[in-house]
Amino acid sequence: MRRGGLVAFPTETVYGLGADVLNLNAVKKVFEAKGRPADNPLIVHVAPLIKLDEIIDEMPAKGQLLIESFWPGPLTLVVKKTILISDLVSGDLDTVAVRMPKNDVALALINTLGEAIVGPSANLSGRPSPTTAHHVYDDLRGKVDLILDAGPTEIGLESTVVDVTIDPPLILRRGGVTQESLERVIGTVEIGTREQLRRSPGTRYRHYAPRARVVLLPIGRAEEFARELQAHRQRREKVACIVHSPPLTALESGELFRVLPSSLTMFARYLFRTLRELDALGVDVILVEGVSEEGIGAAVMDRLRKAAQS
Ligand code: TXA
Ligand code: MG
Repeated sequence: MRRGGLVAFPTETVYGLGADVLNLNAVKKVFEAKGRPADNPLIVHVAPLIKLDEIIDEMPAKGQLLIESFWPGPLTLVVKKTILISDLVSGDLDTVAVRMPKNDVALALINTLGEAIVGPSANLSGRPSPTTAHHVYDDLRGKVDLILDAGPTEIGLESTVVDVTIDPPLILRRGGVTQESLERVIGTVEIGTREQLRRSPGTRYRHYAPRARVVLLPIGRAEEFARELQAHRQRREKVACIVHSPPLTALESGELFRVLPSSLTMFARYLFRTLRELDALGVDVILVEGVSEEGIGAAVMDRLRKAAQS
């Protein structure tokens, strides 16, 4: 990283593609490696030895409270940046997104480098985020200098992104920290409306999508699910299913089933990995049974809706 190399690193959410935040050549290579549009800014990752005031111009009081409660952890704060943060990193915005990951390897990497690092998810732009080192290898081999493998990530979905430059703060991306837990610390937190999110960089782009078409179906409606499955089968499509429990009839007919636990944290942990696995089997369509929108379920459904849209 000191020589401007790219190092993929584990976090508690998903794997990130790291580069020294001050090395603009390296930052450019990050955009190129991912095929990421230049107006979609990167998250800056910090560790305890990094001086925040070199990155952030001013931390609002509510942002400070959130840091005390959730860092290190899956919470990214959007704040006013200093002039040390290049427009390349922030996609020409006057703000920067910052987080401190809860992963010893990531923290040691940043502390040892002695600089903050940029860290978008280490996938090709538009694909599901990588939750194992192998996913990074699949997407970025030849484009990344080193992959630090610390096993599968724990949360499996990206961090929650909250804009604290406005009051009440606004959730730009749902993720590892729920709206309820944010509100317990700082009171009302809004969720970006469709209109607000259109203006927010990352949400303009195709996201979380495997190559196969994703069809999202409501939870617990076995008949509807079976009908949809039947319709695709009649079209001679290769169909895979992600469900909470396998419907017997479908099992008997030998469909590709993945049963993900209805526990929301477990579903979140294995979702991206399962989408990638099914994709690798070359299916045309993936039918997914949704989850309830409590807790991290809201972030899961957000990812599934986006995958199903594209
Ligand atoms: O969990 C995570 O956040 C992972 C791990 C590796 O830390 N990183 C990640 O980065 O998901 P990325 O680049 O895939 O997503 C960053 C999101 C994008 O939606 C981007 O548009 C948004 O954060 N973002 C970054 N800077 C922003 C800014 N200044 N204002 C608004 N949104 C910003
Ligand atoms: Mg990403």
